[in-house]
Amino acid sequence: MMELWYSPASPFVRKVVVTCHESGLTDRMKIHEVNTNVIDSDAELRARNPLGKIPALTLENGETLFDSRVICAYLDDLNAGPKLTPSETEARFRAMTLEALSDGVMDAAVNTRYEMALRPEEFRWQEWMAGQFQKINTGLDSLEEKYIDDLNGDVSIGVISAGCALGYLEFRFPENDWKEKRPRLSAWFKEFSKRPSMAKTTP
Ligand code: BEZ
Repeated sequence: MMELWYSPASPFVRKVVVTCHESGLTDRMKIHEVNTNVIDSDAELRARNPLGKIPALTLENGETLFDSRVICAYLDDLNAGPKLTPSETEARFRAMTLEALSDGVMDAAVNTRYEMALRPEEFRWQEWMAGQFQKINTGLDSLEEKYIDDLNGDVSIGVISAGCALGYLEFRFPENDWKEKRPRLSAWFKEFSKRPSMAKTTP
């Protein structure tokens, strides 16, 4: 059995679990829930991943893979069904860039969440948070303007990552009005959220 170092709130963990569902590999992975953050990381996890970060995936041979991109690429290698990373060069790098864009939106959102939930109020840095929100907004604009056809096409690792980024915004920033300004992205997310892999992993 592979063992996933897991926290239900992390969008990067969700991306791995959704990929696991979409690849038909759920019976090969067990969940190891862990409480970890930048300030207080889990010692056992740190022994497996020196960065102390989730997601990490311990394989049957004892080796541990990280981060989410590496884990998802590994799962796609094991995947006997349609691959989540296209084989044709142009399509592959487009899917990988969509993944990088969506991961970047997640990064900015998680950074902001940490700033708001963990950092003592007197140390909060408004300009830095505004910079993170700008990344989120320009990232979402790009999904709306440049990637709608990709999102509505075959499920790829980039499509999964976009779904998890939007799911995290919905979870941690429910007051954010991103949907109003981006009707196509909003409609896509509503439909994509109905997939069993997404519905089963909603935080
Ligand atoms: C959260 O609580 O939002 C969170 C937890 C773990 C990783 C990333 C985000």
